[in-house]
Amino acid sequence: MTTRALAPGQERAAWGPTGRGYFGVEGLDDLLPVGLSYDTQIMVLGDTGVGKTVLAAQFMYEGLLVGDTCVFIACDEPPELMRRNIANFRLGTAVYEQLDRLVFVDAYARERSTERYRIPNPDNFDEFFAYERDILDKLGDRPLRLVVDSISTMMGTADPTAILEFNRSRLRYLRAKHVLTMDNYVTGLLEERTIAGLSHAYPLIVKMGYRQVDGDAMRYVQLGKLRSGQFTAKQLSFTIDPRTGIVVQRQS
Ligand SMILES: Nc1ncnc2c1ncn2[C@@H]1O[C@H](COP(=O)(O)OP(=O)(O)OP(=O)(O)O)[C@@H](O)[C@H]1O
Ligand SMILES: [Mg+2]
Repeated sequence: MTTRALAPGQERAAWGPTGRGYFGVEGLDDLLPVGLSYDTQIMVLGDTGVGKTVLAAQFMYEGLLVGDTCVFIACDEPPELMRRNIANFRLGTAVYEQLDRLVFVDAYARERSTERYRIPNPDNFDEFFAYERDILDKLGDRPLRLVVDSISTMMGTADPTAILEFNRSRLRYLRAKHVLTMDNYVTGLLEERTIAGLSHAYPLIVKMGYRQVDGDAMRYVQLGKLRSGQFTAKQLSFTIDPRTGIVVQRQS
């Protein structure tokens, strides 16, 4: 866990194209000696129940501690669950929300949502992107992190060409705006060819899954980068702890 913590109202003093961010997961961050630039988009691809939302919670928690403004678009579960996930790390979210340092966007309950920020019809790509852009633009020029959990949910059965075009446009926008972005994808929801096409647009891919270790099914996480061999492709085993989230096992 980070030691660079700032109080809720404290803004980060220096930020710009040279700023660097981390996941907030020991063991995983060790693989990023110089961190991630804020124009990075991360594709997290994993089986259901493997820990994508827990990883997202740690990524947001880390962002809050280092002074970022964090936007969470909830597609699979009500935003309230992410509030509770962050509270499990012993960080109340209310002050951050009041200060607009933490923004929950409800794309789950749709028209029925009582949240301050919501996307009534997220399956409509134009509408989703318009709301996403509007919220990020209103937050202005400051260090931003965004999580969409999970973006594959709203892509559902849409036409693959429309999916790729939509995501290319929004990633282009997010890169230009220097938004450190985590898009979560559930394995198996989209056609392999669509996933392959999507993955080309992300500078960093995080794969999460299960593997057999000494006869037991263990969760693993693996970093992959398409355009350079900067990261090790090693599969790191991890467990999930209620208080600290993902705990990467030491390599023997
Ligand atoms: N606060 C918590 N404390 C302990 N275990 C948790 C906590 N939150 C989630 N888990 C467990 O961690 C595992 C991963 O949960 P998580 O919700 O991150 O999976 P996911 O990959 O997001 O799944 P899905 O695709 O269904 O959204 C689950 O087995 C869940 O029971
Ligand atoms: Mg989840």
